Parts: sequence; C-alpha cells; structure tokens
Amino acid sequence: MVILIGNKKIKAAVFISGAGTNLESLIKFSKKKRSPFIVQLIISNNLRSKGLRFAKIFGIKKRIFKFKKKKLDEKKILKILKFEKINLICLAGFMKILSKSFIKNFKGKILNIHPSLLPKYKGLNTHKRVLLNKEKYTGCTVHFVSPNLDSGKIIMQKKIKVKKKDTPEKLGKRVLIEEHKLYPKAILKIFNL
Ligand code: GAR
Repeated sequence: MVILIGNKKIKAAVFISGAGTNLESLIKFSKKKRSPFIVQLIISNNLRSKGLRFAKIFGIKKRIFKFKKKKLDEKKILKILKFEKINLICLAGFMKILSKSFIKNFKGKILNIHPSLLPKYKGLNTHKRVLLNKEKYTGCTVHFVSPNLDSGKIIMQKKIKVKKKDTPEKLGKRVLIEEHKLYPKAILKIFNL
C-alpha cells in the first residue's frame, strides 16, 4: 500500500510506446474527484506513438527518449521525474525494459499493466499464445514492477472467457476494454481507496 499525504494528489508519469488507450483511460480517470493522482507527464520511446496525441488533447507535458543509449536516457528521465516531483510511474504499453538501477530509484512506485493472467504468458504475443494453448480463460494484470520482467507483486487481475471464435485481435480488443477499467481500480487499491 502507498500512503497518501494530506489532500495533495500524487503526480504520475505514464510511459507509453504505442496507441496509448490505457494512457487515455488513466487521464480520464485522473480527472475524477476520487482519483488520487494527476497525470503530470507522458514519456515515450517512440516518436510515432499514437498515444502522444493525448499530450496535446489534455495539455500534458510529453518527452521522447528513444532508448538508443538506455543508460543515458534513463539518467535524463530520472532528472525530469525529480524535477516534476513524480511519485508514481505507470507503464502503459511501454515496450522497453527499464534497468534494475532505474527501478531501484522508484522502488514500489512503478506499476505495469500486462495483457494476461500473470504469471502466465509473460512477454509478447500473449493472445496468440493463449489461443494456441486452447486456454479457457485469459485476462489482464496490474502489478508492481520488479527487476525481473512481468514478475513483480500482483495488485489486481481481471479474468475473461476465451471464445471459440476468438482471433488474437478479437481477444486483444476484449482484454483491452478490461485493462481500461482495471488500471484505475488497481491504483485506487494501492492507495487504499
Ligand atoms: C496493452 O494491451 C498493454 O497491456 C500491453 O500493450 C498494450 C498497449 O495498449 N502491454 C504489454 O504487453 C507490456 N508487456 P495501449 O497503448 O493502447 O495502452
């Protein structure tokens, strides 16, 4: 559990690489009165992330770091996070692996959403693998980020049924709808709200 001090909202940075639909849902949730956080900053490793448009739409600062020189970029990011007084990092479809030392700097304050019922199906192409293995159920997980990929403590999961006619795309779309609801709920949970 993360403790909220006073009535001040926590400043969050959301890291993205792609469409940013989870980012959009987090921003929309953050504008609600009961939200414990505001999205102060958007970070992407990909200049072409569609999700970067939400920076303009919602008037949020954005920064791009290509992670070609990972150590250097992480150093620069840490500086910005400190300057912006960021207290929570939400990885939302961020496809770069953060270094152990970066994670240590934000111990217990980095969350991630993953499109499977962890510990099953860590890594990429989760929906394809779920279908190949003829799983009856799949879902999504919000967890704390630890130095090992997709392995930190689980905060919340949502389970859904796999349908006979599912394709990876169809299944992915249904899981994504659940992701948009689960991420805000998991954040409320860590703040004990
Ligand atoms: C989401 O399904 C998220 O769970 C997944 O990428 C997608 C991003 O969508 N993340 C991972 O696979 C991380 N291992 P979005 O950009 O529309 O939020």
